[in-house]
Amino acid sequence: MKVIDTISQFRKEIKNYEHPIALVPTMGALHEGHLALVKEARKTAKTVIVSIFVNPIQFNNAVDLEKYPRTFHADSKLLTKEHCDILFYPSVDEMYPSKSELKIDFGYQNKHMEGKFRPGHFNGVGIVVAKLFNIIQPDLAFFGQKDLQQCIVIQQLVKELSFPIDIKIIETKREQSGLAMSSRNARLSEDARAVAPVLYMSLLSMAEGLKNNNFEETKAKSQELLSLTKQIKEEYIEVVEMESGKVVSKFEKGKKYGICIAAFVGNVRLIDNIIVDNE
Ligand code: PAF
Repeated sequence: MKVIDTISQFRKEIKNYEHPIALVPTMGALHEGHLALVKEARKTAKTVIVSIFVNPIQFNNAVDLEKYPRTFHADSKLLTKEHCDILFYPSVDEMYPSKSELKIDFGYQNKHMEGKFRPGHFNGVGIVVAKLFNIIQPDLAFFGQKDLQQCIVIQQLVKELSFPIDIKIIETKREQSGLAMSSRNARLSEDARAVAPVLYMSLLSMAEGLKNNNFEETKAKSQELLSLTKQIKEEYIEVVEMESGKVVSKFEKGKKYGICIAAFVGNVRLIDNIIVDNE
């Protein structure tokens, strides 16, 4: 595996690699969830590129940025094992030689869920993903379903800016307890880790209740379940209709929905979701 840390070197080097080229964009601290994306990419592409870049402009909280785990050596070992061809590992100065002034406004998505609770977050995600797409020019790009609204926003970016890139969304990997794998889990205290699976339990309970179309009652029950655990502070539970990407308050037959949650578990903010087909 080649490690490349500048845009100019990447552009020279990529000419020697075959299409289709797949990109797996990450912020490092790799776990089974990321490796599942790399494995999927390996199945479909001739060249697999993983980027590791902790993107400062998508953090709306300085402590979160500072505490974000950085584990380059372990990450590069894992990627070598997965037969990644190129690891793109630029510095902040390489990606942002001057302060980024551009703003990408995702409209509706900025006002709901992550967009509402993390002002500026999707602007930062949109800019870095667009930069990576322009630098790497992949044919396919792989993202994890765990960040469901991020997937919606990236599909919007690709559609509205006409990037010729096939976006693949890969199912969330979970620990045995049901907790969704996330780089942020490394920051959970032992106590917080013990209660964190309640997030997934409340999603399952909501999915079960929604089948009976009792929207408000079901949501209230899930919120109550969360509130029983002192270390958990819910930010939102919302249901998104998958085709439109819009938040809804009723469940119709024949549609697919994403049930999404965000909560602080101790002092770590986690998100999770499940997709249900209301056949
Ligand atoms: O999901 C992530 O790890 C990041 O938001 C991404 C897509 C790599 C952009 O920085």
